[in-house]
Amino acid sequence: MGKNNLLKLPGLIDPHVHLRDPGSTEKEDFFTGTCAAVAGGYTAIIDMPNNPHPITTEEALSEKISLASRKIVCDVGFHFGASPSNYPVYKQIEAKVKGLKLYLDQTTGPLLIEDLEAILNIFQHWPGQKPILVHAEGVKVAMVLALSYLYRKPVHFCHISQKSEIELIKKAKEQGFLVTCEVTPHHLFLTQEDVKNLGGFGIMKPPLPSKRDQEALWENLAVIDLVASDHAPHTLAEKQSPQPPFGVPGLETTLPLLLTAVSEKRLTLERLVELTFLNPSRIFKIQQDPATSTEVDLQESYFIQGSELKTKCRWSPFQDWRVCGRVRRVTLRGQIVFEQGQVLVPPGFGRILY
Ligand code: DOR
Ligand code: ZN
Ligand code: ZN
Repeated sequence: MGKNNLLKLPGLIDPHVHLRDPGSTEKEDFFTGTCAAVAGGYTAIIDMPNNPHPITTEEALSEKISLASRKIVCDVGFHFGASPSNYPVYKQIEAKVKGLKLYLDQTTGPLLIEDLEAILNIFQHWPGQKPILVHAEGVKVAMVLALSYLYRKPVHFCHISQKSEIELIKKAKEQGFLVTCEVTPHHLFLTQEDVKNLGGFGIMKPPLPSKRDQEALWENLAVIDLVASDHAPHTLAEKQSPQPPFGVPGLETTLPLLLTAVSEKRLTLERLVELTFLNPSRIFKIQQDPATSTEVDLQESYFIQGSELKTKCRWSPFQDWRVCGRVRRVTLRGQIVFEQGQVLVPPGFGRILY
């Protein structure tokens, strides 16, 4: 605890966000998305490749990096998208990305791969030791574990949401598999029951868990390496439509929800720092400058209000939730980037993470 009763944390790291730029900037863009990140206590995030024109070529990656470098207010890295046939470029792009994202279930964007031969090519050709991140639900988790073992490639499971999935990952970890996994705040704090009230705001992939599945996530928190927001904004109009797209924003609500869980003794502060900084830093090799921190006021409790958020979509599935812990100041490389609700650095202040 520092002066003014503020709790000083590291700058947090979120390795799973969708900033929608380029192609869907009506939902979010690199400036608004990184403003949301710093407002939520994050100084480094990693962007996903499922843009409308997905990031599956060297050119698309280079364009995204140069676009981002002019707009970001915190540090941003990128995951490359696996397509059925793009394995020949992996060697060229590997140094520019933090991981390879493989979609094995249907979600936003055109990146789903179901063909086994294509999947084997991806595991065979992904070089080096950066993780293959997978969107894999249910039985696909078992398939990915087999491939990780057979090809000796590290895999990172995105947004684990079922009891059987976390139990299988626990077994694999006990056997020394190269496996890590994450859970999202919406799967930790919302259930199927909430969809009745939330309507489209409760629709995401994987879907909200049953109470039983959610309890298994909390009981196996020791198996989970990190909490990622899976920040996936869509416009209010889209989410209120008859066929709402999958996804919810999360960059500004994850830390307060976790701090509230700490205050309720569901989690220790030490574990929170492991889940939101130490483990993402280790898994995705992000070194933090020592003059980087997030200071929070644990005394302040408030109600989450979508209209007060920096994300362009300005709604939250946690609307009106009472949380404790307000982000007061975020410092990156000695420069105050966020204080008193305001972003204080110009677009382009953030750096690209390689
Ligand atoms: O709910 C989701 N939204 N899950 C995903 O896997 C993708 C994301 C998005 O990009 O909208
Ligand atoms: Zn996903
Ligand atoms: Zn995602």
